[in-house]
Amino acid sequence: MSETLINIRGVTKKYASSDVAPVAALNGVDLEIYRGEFVVITGASGSGKSTLLNLLGLLDDPTSGEIQFNGQNIHTLNEMEKNRFRLETISFVFQFFNLIDNYTAAENISFQLELQGMDHQEARKKAIETLRYLQLEGKADLYPQNLSGGEQQRVAIGRALAKDSLVIIADEPTAHLDSRNAQIVMDILRHINTTFKRTIILVTHEPNQAEQADRQIIIHDGRVSAIKVPDTKESQTIQISLK
Ligand SMILES: Nc1ncnc2c1ncn2[C@@H]1O[C@H](COP(=O)(O)OP(=O)(O)OP(=O)(O)O)[C@@H](O)[C@H]1O
Ligand SMILES: [Mg+2]
Repeated sequence: MSETLINIRGVTKKYASSDVAPVAALNGVDLEIYRGEFVVITGASGSGKSTLLNLLGLLDDPTSGEIQFNGQNIHTLNEMEKNRFRLETISFVFQFFNLIDNYTAAENISFQLELQGMDHQEARKKAIETLRYLQLEGKADLYPQNLSGGEQQRVAIGRALAKDSLVIIADEPTAHLDSRNAQIVMDILRHINTTFKRTIILVTHEPNQAEQADRQIIIHDGRVSAIKVPDTKESQTIQISLK
């Protein structure tokens, strides 16, 4: 029996706008993410995937509904507590890598460990170990501009990995990579998932990536429209009726 890590119930998100009616990006999402799974979220552009990731990553608050994360009811936390919870529990990997330009590959990993209180030398050691795991040890002292896109994304994954978070949230991490580098990123994330037991939540537009996940959650017009278990046949797809 899988253990629930994140439980979201009746979550809506409306974006206020000054000139038009509020945009309802999420229209009542019920979803469980299980501890240790590798889940992929797919859906058309504008269906609400990034909005959902932002809520799962505690980067934004729902308009209504509840989010329980690792047993913690998120709406009971004040901003400071929520920031601390996020820092300790969640790592992010972004589409545009989001590395700091004037930090080397190693520094891009070590700075956040130092932010979390690790001393400088220990943080450097852990950054180098992480880069070694990613087969980037030789690039430790290079700046992002001297790394390929694939290498930059591996450093960004290193930053997510080095932090002892429960969950890695990745919003289209391969969107700007060629298919070979995209597969390398997928393989690394899968390896991190199985070896380090990190829960991975990844948004993608690539059908072949969805097939590599434990579960595929399909979002349609701000709702979960289907959940697929890729190893099984279409008939086992759980269709969720749209109200
Ligand atoms: N900050 C915002 N303010 C207003 N509307 C927003 C905001 N962010 C997203 N939206 C709207 O909410 C809806 C869902 O957007 P979201 O970014 O979650 O889609 P997505 O599924 O991630 O799309 P894509 O595949 O293109 O990244 C869209 O209609 C979008 O225009
Ligand atoms: Mg998006």
